Amino acid sequence: MKLLKNIKEDFPILERKIHGKDFIYFDSAATSLKPSCVIKTLSDFYLHEYGTVHRAVYTTAAETTERYENVRKKVAQFIGATLPEEIIFTKGTTEGMNLLANSLGKMVISDGDELIISEMEHHSNIVPWQQLCQEKGAKLRVIPINDRAEIMMDAFEKMLSKKTKIVSIAHIANATGTINPVQKIIDKAHKVGAIVVIDGAQSVSRMAVNVSELDADFYLFSSHKMFGPTGLGILFGKFPLLEKMVPYQFGGDMIQKVSFDGATFQPPPLKFEAGTPPIGEVIALEAAIEYIQTLGLEFIEKKEKELLMYAKKLLSEIPDLQFIGQPAEQAGILSFIIKNIHHLDIGLFLDLEGIAVRTGHHCAQPLMDRFNIPGTVRVSFGPYNTFEEIERLQNILNQICFKLNQ
Ligand SMILES: Cc1ncc(COP(=O)(O)O)c(C=O)c1O
Repeated sequence: MKLLKNIKEDFPILERKIHGKDFIYFDSAATSLKPSCVIKTLSDFYLHEYGTVHRAVYTTAAETTERYENVRKKVAQFIGATLPEEIIFTKGTTEGMNLLANSLGKMVISDGDELIISEMEHHSNIVPWQQLCQEKGAKLRVIPINDRAEIMMDAFEKMLSKKTKIVSIAHIANATGTINPVQKIIDKAHKVGAIVVIDGAQSVSRMAVNVSELDADFYLFSSHKMFGPTGLGILFGKFPLLEKMVPYQFGGDMIQKVSFDGATFQPPPLKFEAGTPPIGEVIALEAAIEYIQTLGLEFIEKKEKELLMYAKKLLSEIPDLQFIGQPAEQAGILSFIIKNIHHLDIGLFLDLEGIAVRTGHHCAQPLMDRFNIPGTVRVSFGPYNTFEEIERLQNILNQICFKLNQ
């Protein structure tokens, strides 16, 4: 098994000093750092291999098209999809959600229907559905969470009915790290005929995901949160549903025939990939997946759990520190507040010590409302973090409390 110390060496940015201090990165839930293999794949592509996809016959274009389509196959295998055609490249989880709200949503939601989300969702799994419901006269129903930041399953079950058309839930909540019981949610929602969308932005780099075993209808994630480049997302959808859905955007590459009388469209996935896609990013995503597979998801999950347990132990020793959410099933993401100290001040003081954390509402304002707070400090781990870094975090937080709470 690879040691955590060696993993750090795979991430060149961690050699940086911030304000003269060693750089400690605790914001992997926002975006993960990039290993050298991903950066090299991206730069090699632009330096030596560059070409467009699906259009041209010359050598670099043909090579690039083959690689691009091979990454589609690789992603399908990585998440256990049956067909590569079930993988659509988007700009990110957010764009994938907007695609679904505009295409799937308009197909299955009508006046009086219901769509269910939870109280802990990221804004990108709230606002697109909210807009859809407002436009269609449908009802957006919200599953409440308990004080530990866990979904209240009995309330969810009571909400389900023949009116429920879509259930859209995060696999792992970005602000509290809650691992939701998505298998149970999918099974129960399917019993009433609802379509289930799983927001996997936080999960694919932290745990093994198999969309076929889960029987998820749609599963979305972002390359930049799984050690890959920015500007690229993945939307998995069951092929028969994708076939029925109308395109979200129109233009080049997604058409079969265009005349001034009308247009016909490609089958999925190209139907949903209008315009020149993020080619280099897709190609470098392959290196990111291979990096995850080299470390092993079992290893990543175990290590993040150990880091989480250690952080919970050390941070709970800080007087006046309160965790926001203490779910029984928690990934390597931890939110807290400290009495009488604004979360922003904590973030700024930590930055002066070279420690990067996220502060604020984490794109989950309704969740902050639920806990009656404006924001939290969020510490989130990647496989490059170490126990020593957590000790340093505790030490600096103690100093901040001493200085500001005197
Ligand atoms: C749970 C969750 N869903 C969706 C998103 C949106 O992802 P992106 O900004 O990559 O589109 C994020 C990003 O933080 C997230 O954590």
